[in-house]
Amino acid sequence: MEAESGFDILPVYDTPATGEIGAPGEYPYTRGVYPTMYTKRPWTMRQYAGFGTAAESNARYHQLLANGTMGLSVAFDLPTQMGYDSDDPIAHGEVGKVGVAIDSIDDMRRLFHGIPLDKVSTSMTINAPGSVLLLLYQLVAEEQGASPADLQGTIQNDILKEYIARGTYIFPPKPSLRLVADTFAYCRTEIPKWNTISISGYHMAEAGATPAQEIGFTLANGIEYVRAAIDAGLAVDDFAPRLSFFFVARTTLLEEIAKFRAARRMWARIMRDEFGARNPKSMMLRFHTQTAGVALTAQQPEVNLIRVALQALGAVAGGTQSLHTNAYDEAIALPTEKSARLALRTQQVLAYETGMTGTVDPFAGSYAIESLTDQVEGAATKLIERVFAYGSAVEAIEQGFQKQEIEASAYRIANDIDGGDRVVVGVNRFVSETEEKYEPLRVDPAIEANQAARLAELRAGRDGDAVRGALDRLRAAAAGTDNVLPVMREALRLRATVGEVCHALRDVWGVHQPVERF
Ligand code: 3HC
Repeated sequence: MEAESGFDILPVYDTPATGEIGAPGEYPYTRGVYPTMYTKRPWTMRQYAGFGTAAESNARYHQLLANGTMGLSVAFDLPTQMGYDSDDPIAHGEVGKVGVAIDSIDDMRRLFHGIPLDKVSTSMTINAPGSVLLLLYQLVAEEQGASPADLQGTIQNDILKEYIARGTYIFPPKPSLRLVADTFAYCRTEIPKWNTISISGYHMAEAGATPAQEIGFTLANGIEYVRAAIDAGLAVDDFAPRLSFFFVARTTLLEEIAKFRAARRMWARIMRDEFGARNPKSMMLRFHTQTAGVALTAQQPEVNLIRVALQALGAVAGGTQSLHTNAYDEAIALPTEKSARLALRTQQVLAYETGMTGTVDPFAGSYAIESLTDQVEGAATKLIERVFAYGSAVEAIEQGFQKQEIEASAYRIANDIDGGDRVVVGVNRFVSETEEKYEPLRVDPAIEANQAARLAELRAGRDGDAVRGALDRLRAAAAGTDNVLPVMREALRLRATVGEVCHALRDVWGVHQPVERF
């Protein structure tokens, strides 16, 4: 059965697979990027967290580290993600709400107070201003006495999926891709262990994409970034080893295991055959996984504990390098300390009680998994061809192709749920009449006024002329062809704010105006 790209792949058990399986840690990496995978060290348990002020989030990071989390993962509030300061009128009502408010080097210093940045790896979910937050992280690490060469972590920095599915973009595609390429070049010399981008399928999946669409559109975006970096004069093996990816883990266990295996095999071939990569690390698709947020239900929320455990099992059996498990109450509110701890404990049970770390790619050779791996690869490859039939991934985005495909899939899924064909336990079947009372975590609304007061204090206490001069030099760099990051770092060191830096770039590059298509 030729799988349609717009439908969930159905397992075909009776046709032996034909795709190359290979060996763990060897090209095309179907079975995993490292020969030993978790037998040497489990995946990184990296819980996405951040809310309110830098001090509140810092307290949560210390709790997570004390509970055994192995890597940090920062959630920023929308004003920060969109490059606005907390006292910008457009930020009203959003400060500290879906993540932590970071306006300046002062906030970044508070965020990592008491955490040695050369001893942890930190992911930051930040896209349009990704380079700005990375430089603030570097400046704070240097204040701690750490060398940028020792810093490990990731910025999401994946602007293309923001145009398709998430929306936290600022600049038009062309300057955005220039800024991504500048960041690749800057990190290669200044912060060589930093993963410069996390090319994400998660948000497209959360918007309704099927496994094939998630992999196809994500790898197409990856190809676009590689082309942009090469066009900017970078050699593929100089930046490709530090590309990383980010996918969802749905509750459809077997498809998800197959999906990850197909993605590794596809990316290895793309990097070797299309881009001529020679460094094996350039061909390894290393990825982070988050369990599916849209699968969480507000009804009978404890049932989400079981969903998250199964989704995490799929990510681990699929060979993820890093994993976030959602808290059972996240369909209702930000996780409480207890639900966040339970989410982490789910990973610890997987790692230390199931024996899953004792072998590599345990489902290899299975009729179901190998045929599904072939099916996802076939359908995703066809989608990549359809994207580039538009000329480029950006052109396809501007024509609305990916968005329309995902919306069509989301519509089918919603219809299947409404019609009962797709069961959601507790929602359209096995419904419970009575629900226990649940007390959500609440963010103090006073945070907005507090952040504004801190910004006024920062602006009063800095050398305004020096900041204005640095921002003028940033505008000049953005108008030219030099790498903008060194000039941006100097402005931030002088305590220019995130909003001021992004406004300087808006002055030169403008802002993206999406083409509305109906
Ligand atoms: N054999 C040999 N080496 C091994 C090994 C093994 N078995 N296991 C690990 N290692 C090595 C690796 O090579 C690496 O060393 P290197 O960096 O020098 O190569 C080191 O140990 C760390 O291992 P990994 O790189 O595999 O694991 P990390 O956790 O450090 O990195 C990653 C994982 C996927 C590459 C990285 O990009 C990452 O951490 N990504 C996280 C992204 C993230 O958290 N995103 C959150 C998004 S939240 C969001 O957007 C959703 C919201 O909007 C709702």
